[in-house]
Amino acid sequence: MNNFVFYSPTEFVFGKDTESRVAEMTAKYHGTKVLIVYGGGSVVRSGLLDRIRKTLDEAHISHIELGGIQPNPTDLKVYEGIELGRREKVDFLLPVGGGSVIDTAKAIACGIPYEGDFWDFFIGKAVPRQALRLGVVLTIPAAGSEGSGNSVITKTDGLKKLSLRTPEVLRPAFAIMNPELTFTLPPWQTACGITDMMAHIMERYFTNTEETEVTDRLCEGTLKAIIEEARKVMKEPRDYGARANIMWAGTIAHNGICGVGCEEDWASHFMEHEVSAVYDVTHGAGLAVIFPAWLTYMAGHHARKAAQLANRVWNVPESDNLKAMALEGIEKMKEFLHEIGMPVTFKELGIEHPDIDLLVRKLHENKGELVGNYVRLDRQATREIYETANR
Ligand code: NZQ
Ligand code: ZN
Repeated sequence: MNNFVFYSPTEFVFGKDTESRVAEMTAKYHGTKVLIVYGGGSVVRSGLLDRIRKTLDEAHISHIELGGIQPNPTDLKVYEGIELGRREKVDFLLPVGGGSVIDTAKAIACGIPYEGDFWDFFIGKAVPRQALRLGVVLTIPAAGSEGSGNSVITKTDGLKKLSLRTPEVLRPAFAIMNPELTFTLPPWQTACGITDMMAHIMERYFTNTEETEVTDRLCEGTLKAIIEEARKVMKEPRDYGARANIMWAGTIAHNGICGVGCEEDWASHFMEHEVSAVYDVTHGAGLAVIFPAWLTYMAGHHARKAAQLANRVWNVPESDNLKAMALEGIEKMKEFLHEIGMPVTFKELGIEHPDIDLLVRKLHENKGELVGNYVRLDRQATREIYETANR
């Protein structure tokens, strides 16, 4: 196991009616002028936004709003939020929604106190040293942004979808997580979220670091629980217990605990970010297409961990033929993805003729000549994976 620092200071407030504690939590973390950030309208339709406004009003916490954040959020709303936040002198961000809303709020939070262009942080030109505090009200378990120090934003000019990772600065102070708020999720979004959280675990699980038994078992156990609870939730969207388990799994999957002590991979995410940047597909659905293709490449080049995954998570019997085990596991994973309504090829995702030249070029321009760690992938390898996803 490698040396590690695991810093996860977010206070999670989990369960029924917990959104009623939003003012109390905001006051606890010294929010006095709050910028509420939300998406395309689900929180308006559900009445959640109104309830939050009322709770803040009752506690005499001043608040303003920035709505209309789209999935695969862009820099435009971040600039708008920075300008608004500075003008109105906000001191606290309160995203109410999913990863797109939270990530936009995080970028605004570190952009407000920074004199330069916030995009500097995403291209590695500067490192955020400070940010306004933020608290989250989560409405979709998927991206794990409620417990992560990451933000993923697309630069409209050039369609560059890049991620920023600064856990010391960007982890939310608190995250309110009421599984009942997820009852209204359409099946597609539920399934995309499930796929994303599974991918977050696998990105960490695929490591060459030795002696990571605890982390491995945590990953495998959480994946197995997700698979079981996903089946329940897809059948009965108002099953509180299943929704609660899925919601917590989404946080565990991405707050870092499943990767402590390991070198992580992340090639599949980087490959998917090019797909959702160019074709504006839902991130989880893009991963459902890329991950099995990436695993197929691994089965041929470095099958050890894929075989272990097949055996411990997908119940494939042990054998000496690791490649065959890995391939059988991939088939089971694809069956599961189909079962929950996910695509596993570009065609099924609605992209008839993906521009693979463009995807490969953008990927390596953004992420360097070699991508990932479990196997370092060059242009030929990433092309092969995109082509596998296109069969
Ligand atoms: O915009 P509204 O109207 O609110 O609708 C949203 C949106 O259309 C809807 N939704 C959310 N909660 C709902 C609901 N509909 C009904 N009932 C509810 N309770 O769901 C749609 C998707 O929302 P979005 O925030 O885009 O979903 P998600 O949480 O999957 O976030 C995706 C974004 O996060 C990035 C992805 O790349 C993508 O841009 N990621 C962020 C990460 C991070 N910060 O750590 C890591 C991830 O790997 C990922 O890359
Ligand atoms: Zn993801």
